Amino acid sequence: MTSGPAGDLAAIVTRLRAAGCVFAEDEARLLAATAPSPADLADMVDRRVNGFPLEHVLGWAEFCGLRIAVSDGIFVPRRRSEFLVRQAAAIAAAVAAADAPAPAGPPGEPGPGRRRPVIVDLCCGSGAIGVAVAAAVDHAELYASDIEPAAVACARQNVASVGGHVYQGDLYDPLPASLRGRVDVLVVNAPYVPTSEIVFLPPEARLHEPAVALDGGIDGVDVHRRVAAEATGWLALDGRLLIETSARQAIKTAAAMTTSGLVPAITNDDDLGATVVIGSRGASPGTLPPAGAAATTR
Ligand SMILES: C[S@@+](CC[C@H](N)C(=O)[O-])C[C@H]1O[C@@H](n2cnc3c(N)ncnc32)[C@H](O)[C@@H]1O
Repeated sequence: MTSGPAGDLAAIVTRLRAAGCVFAEDEARLLAATAPSPADLADMVDRRVNGFPLEHVLGWAEFCGLRIAVSDGIFVPRRRSEFLVRQAAAIAAAVAAADAPAPAGPPGEPGPGRRRPVIVDLCCGSGAIGVAVAAAVDHAELYASDIEPAAVACARQNVASVGGHVYQGDLYDPLPASLRGRVDVLVVNAPYVPTSEIVFLPPEARLHEPAVALDGGIDGVDVHRRVAAEATGWLALDGRLLIETSARQAIKTAAAMTTSGLVPAITNDDDLGATVVIGSRGASPGTLPPAGAAATTR
């Protein structure tokens, strides 16, 4: 083995490649740049070689250009969810602009007449989605919740960057009642893998992410039905519910919204392999783009 940093890096690449890491060079560079000491680097490489997800080993994931803390046992934010963020951010931006014109206020403050969009990220995991939406829109109010204590602790770390609040509990249960009827953007990436298909997930997900983050029940849409059932009580009159789902399950996710009194629109991004169903209340006054209008639907 060549000695020195370059030789060490080459040796790491070789080990990672032998363990099946397709992007061994990139991973080796990230591990070396993140490890606080050579001993830590050795531990990190061992964990990666033993199958831990790269993001758990690094302690962070890149998502929407942000560095999101991801601790062990937490769902790793997926790249396809950037489509959900784009859709939600477009709606939040429309809310912020809806009450314009807004004469310039002091720097850092919304102008008079501008509304701060209220964003709720249900089943927030690390909080990546809510943080990315809030970061894309000036002056949003962000509230997030998750049932898992470890996810809540991780989300609190991430949400601090945009000044949001994180609650622990089942879906809407822990949210402040004062949010009822005020939510502009209800953004949800809940578990949606059918129970019988968990076994087919890659080991990094199956072994290192908790079942509660993956298992969506018999047809994968159980949590979507529960989210949709209560959504109208929380949404503002022109608020939107956005749920990430799969192309195959989208019809069922949309049906759950219809049953709950929402008007659904199915949107897709082929490049990311992402599907989002956007539900609006029928009584929308029309200040926002119609549900799905913000989508790059292909
Ligand atoms: C697929 S992960 C997504 C996490 C995050 N939204 C993201 O995209 O990175 C689903 C999350 O839903 C949470 N969850 C599952 N059932 C829940 C429930 N009944 N109430 C609140 N959170 C729940 C899990 O703990 C997990 O963090």
